[in-house]
Amino acid sequence: MRKTAVLLAVSLAGLSSLAHASDTEKGKLVFTQEAQPSCTLCHTLADAGSAGEIGPDLDELKPSREQVINAVTSGVGIMPPFGELLSSDQIQAVARYVTSVTGGEN
Ligand code: HEC
Repeated sequence: MRKTAVLLAVSLAGLSSLAHASDTEKGKLVFTQEAQPSCTLCHTLADAGSAGEIGPDLDELKPSREQVINAVTSGVGIMPPFGELLSSDQIQAVARYVTSVTGGEN
């Protein structure tokens, strides 16, 4: 009986981390490939293996989710807007990805 409960708890935890992982993977794809020009060109982000120096180092900046969404949607300074190029799903995903790998809020 107890063993079943433990197994159930473990498999539920596994499921939710899987769901989270695939969401993060989606955001990583947007960061590294789907956004054009690529975020990696201008930004350093260790998890994405990028070392761009045109924009701020995102590992240091640790932007909030809202900051990422605003910057990506409308652009900021010389950073181009991606609001027309990416779906709001892709923008949400990249924002979750950046905040989850930099330890900013989720
Ligand atoms: C052409 C270069 C370039 C590309 C491509 C680019 N950025 Fe930026 N980004 C910048 C620059 C430059 C700034 C700083 C702008 C300023 O503060 O004047 C910036 C700022 C930011 C900020 C900080 C915003 C703030 O509130 O301070 C975030 C977050 C960000 N970019 C995320 C992204 C993401 C995610 C992508 C890909 C979808 C991306 N950037 C693509 C150049 C770029």
